[in-house]
Amino acid sequence: MTSIWSTKSIASLKAEAHEAEFGSETPNLRRTLSLASLISLGIGCIIGAGIFVLTGHAAAAYAGPAISLSFVLAGLVCALAGLCYAEMASTVPVAGSAYTYAYATLGEFIAWIIGWDLLLEYAFGATTVAIGWSGYVVSFLRDFHIGIPAALAGAPFAFDPASGAWTHTGALVNAPAVAIVLALTALLVVGVNESAKVNNIIVAIKLAIIVVFILAGLSSVSTANWVTSANPDGAFIPPNAGPGEYGWSGILRGAAVVFFAYIGFDAVSTAAQEAKNPQRDMPLGILGSLVICTVLYVLVSIVITGIVPFDRLSVPDPIALGVDVIGLRWLSTVVKLGAILGLSSVVLVLLLGQTRVLYSIARDGLLPPIAAKVHPRFRTPYLTTIGTGLIVAVMAGVLPIGLVGELVSIGTLFAFAIVCAGVLFLRYTHPQIHRPFRAPLIAIVAPLGAAAAVVLMLGLPRDTWIRFAIWLAIGLILYFTYGRRHSRLARAAE
Ligand code: ALA
Repeated sequence: MTSIWSTKSIASLKAEAHEAEFGSETPNLRRTLSLASLISLGIGCIIGAGIFVLTGHAAAAYAGPAISLSFVLAGLVCALAGLCYAEMASTVPVAGSAYTYAYATLGEFIAWIIGWDLLLEYAFGATTVAIGWSGYVVSFLRDFHIGIPAALAGAPFAFDPASGAWTHTGALVNAPAVAIVLALTALLVVGVNESAKVNNIIVAIKLAIIVVFILAGLSSVSTANWVTSANPDGAFIPPNAGPGEYGWSGILRGAAVVFFAYIGFDAVSTAAQEAKNPQRDMPLGILGSLVICTVLYVLVSIVITGIVPFDRLSVPDPIALGVDVIGLRWLSTVVKLGAILGLSSVVLVLLLGQTRVLYSIARDGLLPPIAAKVHPRFRTPYLTTIGTGLIVAVMAGVLPIGLVGELVSIGTLFAFAIVCAGVLFLRYTHPQIHRPFRAPLIAIVAPLGAAAAVVLMLGLPRDTWIRFAIWLAIGLILYFTYGRRHSRLARAAE
């Protein structure tokens, strides 16, 4: 048997992808995604609850008008990881993202850990955003006097972090959250191209709304709106009022919170096996979507804090509040509709990413082969897609948003750190392999990217770390009871 540290060679990964595409008799994934679709997938996954919901709270509680600096900072951290993802995705253009990169660099055991960890980013991420989607839909319908009974619009249990106790909320199920997950799952089963087309339309609408908001708001931006009781002088960086409350430490905490808004650029890399020209388009897709979103985020945050005093921004729909304040009430409904559509594409791409990671793991034998089965007509991993959709639908129906949301950031940051480490490792161990895209200054970019991810992880609460450790322990048990015994790599060696 091979060691748990055995790696898969890049050549064999590429050969497998090639065989999967042309050589085998079983149906396979189809290469249909253009560069525009890949950038659109990235934007589809990135712009969501982060900018539409979290910005307001992060400005109100932590950074004030300097929330735009928090966005710049979080964007820089993601750019470091993004460069590493881009190099890996062009060098190893197969489905599976960080899981596959780890298999090629740090060995099967770490790959499994990362694959298991990616469930936190993708499946839990989809759950979190679906619950946020439900909140926006309920509020939107209420504007039109259509009420969804409370019993059908919330999780049956709530978790109180202070006492550590679960309480019953009186609700039965979060039905809108379940419905959106099931609908998007059906779309994903039918085809990646169909899913990408729907995503393109949603992204166009979402971008248009954000650009209209920026243009409509820019002329009303005034530094007079920076003045609040916590910031009587109207400074851009309000005076520090304790650890993480305004000042530079507030900007840092703001960055850790709005980091969620950037999650998703890496999901582009999970579609590598369905890209028409992955070696050129993967880096452009990952970095292009990241750059576009960073610019938009910084502009939105400058506008929103320039038109509404930040102490009024802690609402679930800060952008809609912004357009109300500048007197464009009609736009407020459009913004809500845009957020609803926008959040659906985030759930769509996160679900897509999840199924492609599971597909790759199953192909390697670490999960049952049924999970890698591709539909003969739709050419999608349909059983995995349906299974993932059902599990995410149940979680979205019954779990409270806070509990799942906090695990998403820690899981994503962990994957970032491993990818940064892996890219550097591969440069030293395999300097000669062909890298269509090389991240610049790798000796600085990779360690800095990994360190920045770890620093943000350390800023997360202790409870999150405990849950993360439990999650990884469950993963270890699964690996040693199933994956290790069925690994294709280990069996090939025998
Ligand atoms: N970045 C995604 C969002 O903000 C996850 O919803």
